[in-house]
Amino acid sequence: MIAQSRKKIEAGGVRLAGTGMALPAKVVANADLAKTVDTSDEWIVQRTGIRQRRIAGEDETVRSMAVGALRQAIASAELTPRELDLVICATLTPEMGCPSTAARVVAELEAVPAGALDISAACSGFVYGINHAWALINSGVCRTVGVIGVEKLSGIVDWDDRRTCVLFGDGAGAAILSGGGQPQQGCLYQSMGSDGSRWEVLYLPQSARDLPSETNGFTGKFNTLQMNGREVYKFAVTTLQACIEDALKACNLRPDDLAMIIPHQSNSRILESAREKLGVSEDRMYINIDRYGNTSAASVPICLHELRSEGRLKEGDLVLFVALGGGLTWSSSLWRL
Ligand code: ACO
Repeated sequence: MIAQSRKKIEAGGVRLAGTGMALPAKVVANADLAKTVDTSDEWIVQRTGIRQRRIAGEDETVRSMAVGALRQAIASAELTPRELDLVICATLTPEMGCPSTAARVVAELEAVPAGALDISAACSGFVYGINHAWALINSGVCRTVGVIGVEKLSGIVDWDDRRTCVLFGDGAGAAILSGGGQPQQGCLYQSMGSDGSRWEVLYLPQSARDLPSETNGFTGKFNTLQMNGREVYKFAVTTLQACIEDALKACNLRPDDLAMIIPHQSNSRILESAREKLGVSEDRMYINIDRYGNTSAASVPICLHELRSEGRLKEGDLVLFVALGGGLTWSSSLWRL
């Protein structure tokens, strides 16, 4: 099931030098949504763990949130933007197909001529991003890479569809990864996988051309997320658990050896199920979905920044990043900080 790298790798002296995040100002509580669709705070909390989410205003764009998060990450790393070799931006909500969001971010931060590219791997995007960044730094191609996860999901949600609109939120998080750390620092294991044969359980159709062939009488709206919640749930529960088990096995570790698991915030029931089955204690799996909802590619770096700012991560800690989402895609990344 879990594809790609299956063995422990050499950390390569790559360190997490800085983190940042940027959130829209507007908080939308479950009770606010219950005014416009047939739902309730109780239903949403019980099924998803979400209590509120941030929703971007007109002037809070994917670009502005990405710039805000990366600017803060660069400052926390005590670097200047010109020291970045590359910016990777994971998003499924880019403002335009061309240019990339990353290219505009690089320009706004005056980091030109750093390389810039967007990654499209839905909720797995940020973890795919740090895996690529690590490989580029470890191979000596880059010295310092900024990785952003950013989404404005409010722009692609059908606000009349209670099955999806209660789940998502907007925001951005970022990390700076840099070479020159202690030899034991860096990524010890990573996986990146996909199963595009199951794409239709979560997709964003632009026109009838994009609908699954067996779809009869599509009643949804184009340019809004279409989801088979039950199928996504089944995929997420099994894949999250498999990704964690796989990383632990490859590195000969027990759950207690991990200082923290930082999972994509899909749904607290999905996270709790994996946590309980694997025997991971509550304080070792970070969950903040109650405050932000599912922010797709932004959820892992937002968690990372919160943990780091609160002093809950220290040098030498083993931290496992894990995410899964549309594609279908999944990815894990085990780091010694
Ligand atoms: N409020 C009230 N009732 C609702 C709502 C809502 N917001 N949404 C659905 N319902 C109703 C349904 O209409 C249905 O009613 P019916 O029985 O009268 O037809 C009933 O609740 C049960 O619906 P289900 O879809 O079967 O509910 P389920 O228990 O599966 O929960 C949920 C739905 C929360 C979406 C769940 O399937 C889930 O979490 N799936 C994973 C989705 C996910 O994480 N997506 C994120 C993107 S991918 C990722 O991040 C990995």
